Amino acid sequence: MRFPNFNIFIYSILILLAWGFVSCYNDNEEYLYQHLTDQTCDTVNVTFSGTILPIMNQYCVKCHSTASPSAGISLDNYAGVSAVAATGQLWGSVSWTGNFSAMPQGENQLSPCNLSKIRAWLNKAYPND
Ligand code: HEC
Repeated sequence: MRFPNFNIFIYSILILLAWGFVSCYNDNEEYLYQHLTDQTCDTVNVTFSGTILPIMNQYCVKCHSTASPSAGISLDNYAGVSAVAATGQLWGSVSWTGNFSAMPQGENQLSPCNLSKIRAWLNKAYPND
């Protein structure tokens, strides 16, 4: 069957195409991928005293205090944390990779944001800042 009005046919196609383009107009990277890139996670301003020690205090020190250090590891001070940073034990244990015990023991893994912060601090050679 021949289309009754060829011009209307062409216009319909054009309108459909235009609508197709416009429908993508409001899609932007942040909006589409916000679940993948946590916008609130600051991995730039990472310091030992301001970032890493608070994470240790919240999730690790109950078992790794100087007074009662599980496995002889105290994580309430720079000396203790940098020691396990240097051996790879810190990253291995919190990232649950390699032949290390998964930490925090018996609990959920640290959040992706906290892991990113620890990784960022290790990447700049774990300074005492
Ligand atoms: C519920 C108590 C508990 C908590 C909480 C805990 N740990 Fe541990 N951790 C242990 C015990 C017990 C060991 C020694 C036995 C083992 O390796 O499983 C250990 C071992 C370790 C080791 C040595 C692992 C290895 O394989 O060499 C590291 C590093 C460590 N913990 C870091 C941490 C960090 C970092 C946190 C916080 C994110 C943490 N732990 C939280 C109890 C705990």
